[in-house]
Amino acid sequence: MKNFESRVDELRKKFEGALAGVNDDRALEDLRNEFLSRKRGHLTLFFDDLKALTPEERPVAGKLVNELKIQVQEALTTRQGKLATRVVTPDKADLTLPGEKLPWGAPHPLMLFQEEIENIFLAMGFSIAEGPEIETDYYNFEALNFPPHHPARDSWDTLYLGDDLLLRTHTSPMQIRVMEKFKPPIRIIIPGKVYRREAIDPTHLPMFCQVEGLLVDEGVTLAHLKGTLEHFLKTLLGDKIEIRFRPSFFPFTEPSAEVDISCILCRGKDPACPICGGTGWKELLGAGMVDPQVLKNVNIDPERYSGWAFGLGIERTAMFRYQIADMRIFYENDLRFTRQFSLK
Ligand code: PHE
Repeated sequence: MKNFESRVDELRKKFEGALAGVNDDRALEDLRNEFLSRKRGHLTLFFDDLKALTPEERPVAGKLVNELKIQVQEALTTRQGKLATRVVTPDKADLTLPGEKLPWGAPHPLMLFQEEIENIFLAMGFSIAEGPEIETDYYNFEALNFPPHHPARDSWDTLYLGDDLLLRTHTSPMQIRVMEKFKPPIRIIIPGKVYRREAIDPTHLPMFCQVEGLLVDEGVTLAHLKGTLEHFLKTLLGDKIEIRFRPSFFPFTEPSAEVDISCILCRGKDPACPICGGTGWKELLGAGMVDPQVLKNVNIDPERYSGWAFGLGIERTAMFRYQIADMRIFYENDLRFTRQFSLK
């Protein structure tokens, strides 16, 4: 029995010595196995040895081994807690080592493209503004000359939020907000998201981006609109493209036009062209001279001032520039797609 007691003491010392040298989780786990492993742990083997003792000695010895076992378990748990909360102090850490590399984010391709558009207009002396995506009926329609039940509203159906509020269907309401606030000369572009009731397909989304352009001054004519758009589109899409104006209708411009550009992919020679469908032209934007009634709505004298405006679809133009057949890819967040743009 004496012999047994001293063996327990020896084992306790051995454990304490080993624990002092434990500095990481792995060493701690090894020590736990060495003492407590169910098959070969020192303490487990001790319990087996109890069988060799007399029935009187056995409970006393058993108590000793059990106490040691509890001591070992508690010490291991305490040390584990200390390791987990250990702080690397500066004198132990090598601060000259390179840090962990985090992946860089990058602007979305549509944002990069929008920035290119903005830069072209900034260089021509335009300013940039942004406006609310939730608009009132007044700004989205009425002030732009859409009377309450006018059929022109049909092609701009949207989500109504009650209380006269709706998701704006175009960036044109910002024409009104800008002209209410600033007096001519006005030269401004307004990029932003717009919403329409659309079934999703390769060329339609219920949310997309537009850039609105507005210029108001004395003596402004359609020629200025044409010259500005031609410069803008050639700078953005290349010198080779041609531009054509087709008569159209918008309640807030008079005269109005749809502006098409020649197809850079097939030049009208491929009847199955994925970009222009064989027509040789691609419609990019709506434009026109600001309707005198719209000027009156914001107290600008149409006898003295005239202006032009346009609204361009950003995705549509980016699809043309990068020859992308399906607009949805811009919003799928597939890094294999988006990374191609930010690497430039
Ligand atoms: N707001 C029109 C649209 O979304 C485009 C447009 C803007 C037309 C400015 C003329 C002038 O279709």
